[in-house]
Amino acid sequence: MLAMEYRGPYRIRTREKDRPRVEHPGDAIVRVSRACICGSDLHLYHGLVPDTRVGTTFGHEFTGTVVEVGSGVEHLKVNDKVLVPFNVFCGACYFCKKELYSNCHNTNPEATAVGGIYGYSHTTGGYDGGQAEYVRVPMADVGPTVIPDDLHLDDAVLLTDAFPTGYQAAEMGDITEGDTVVVFGAGPVGIFAAKSAWLLGAGRVIVVDHVEYRLQFVQQFAHCETVNFKDVRDMAVHIKKMTDGLGADVCIDCVGCEAAGNLAQTLLGVKLKLQGGAATVLHWCINSVRKGGTVSIVGVYGPTFNAVPIGNAVNKGLTLRMNQASVKRHLPRLIEHIQAGRISPREVITHRLPLEAVADAYHIFSSKLDNCIKTVLVPEESFQ
Ligand SMILES: NC(=O)c1ccc[n+]([C@@H]2O[C@H](COP(=O)([O-])OP(=O)(O)OC[C@H]3O[C@@H](n4cnc5c(N)ncnc54)[C@H](O)[C@@H]3O)[C@@H](O)[C@H]2O)c1
Ligand SMILES: [Zn+2]
Ligand SMILES: [Zn+2]
Repeated sequence: MLAMEYRGPYRIRTREKDRPRVEHPGDAIVRVSRACICGSDLHLYHGLVPDTRVGTTFGHEFTGTVVEVGSGVEHLKVNDKVLVPFNVFCGACYFCKKELYSNCHNTNPEATAVGGIYGYSHTTGGYDGGQAEYVRVPMADVGPTVIPDDLHLDDAVLLTDAFPTGYQAAEMGDITEGDTVVVFGAGPVGIFAAKSAWLLGAGRVIVVDHVEYRLQFVQQFAHCETVNFKDVRDMAVHIKKMTDGLGADVCIDCVGCEAAGNLAQTLLGVKLKLQGGAATVLHWCINSVRKGGTVSIVGVYGPTFNAVPIGNAVNKGLTLRMNQASVKRHLPRLIEHIQAGRISPREVITHRLPLEAVADAYHIFSSKLDNCIKTVLVPEESFQ
């Protein structure tokens, strides 16, 4: 089968690989119909995630059709059309029982923090991902969700990560009616966080980025105010000026370790790798939120320490919430929002490319060319 293959930082290609097989009675094999590229894939592509092994296949956002199931699978059958949350999780451990699926204790032998993730290095279990024609889906009775007939495949694939992650980012903000919410990052996750903030009762939503076409998009898609940080000297002062001197009620980090905007942070966190990524947005969130406010973090950071102003957070009495998203927990509610017409996730898709063009697809998304927001890779068989 054809699959994306990592060769080293900024070097990826497609290659013929063996089609995955059922290795465990709980596995299913899924023929991929859609596979997105995520901002998280860019951290892999840029060589920032430890233990990203040459030869592996990325891709944690995919939909497909079940073509084979192991003898122990009870709820999925061949020909089912499924969307597969990016988390690999068991559904039965201490953490899964608390619906902390992203922290599953049984699916990632290499870490005590995050659970398994498809196509996301051996630090998250070493599972091959879905930027391929076929993918092995372990614990197939637990993760995959059968796609309702009236749900468009392009909406379904955005339910595997970007929309639920944006939603959880807003949810962790503990938004109360009328709150002012500032979202850092106008990538797909930030766009969905902004939209979700309204769904959760925000009274004002402000999105910050420096890529003008993305700010224009989010203005339209989420009807929010925007700030281009290139025009701002001091982010905390600017946000305070916009909020009667108090600061925002909630600040949300949808940027993570590769944040631009502070040279020293970029040097230490991205170029020299002396901390787990640039902590620029963590500073901006902690310093721009009002006293007693909440900072919600879904931007991804490395496992080591980061230089963050924890003293300010303590003295301001902030609540800090963060996690990888537990996708499955949000699906019933988010499917309902789509079916009710309150959101059309697929509008963020700007690029649709065949799997063969994976190298171009990463380059376009990474370099923010051609007004790219979200790219979907479509294996030839499913290309329409
Ligand atoms: N926690 C989770 O479960 C989860 C899931 C998916 C993605 N993520 C993470 O969320 C982040 C965003 O993902 P995405 O797919 O939207 O990525 P993306 O790369 O498309 O978007 C990131 C955006 O942040 C902007 N940005 C850079 N520096 C900034 C700054 N200082 N202030 C404001 N904006 C800035 C970029 O211009 C870009 O538009 C990534 O770190 C990704 O790894 C986390
Ligand atoms: Zn993702
Ligand atoms: Zn578990």
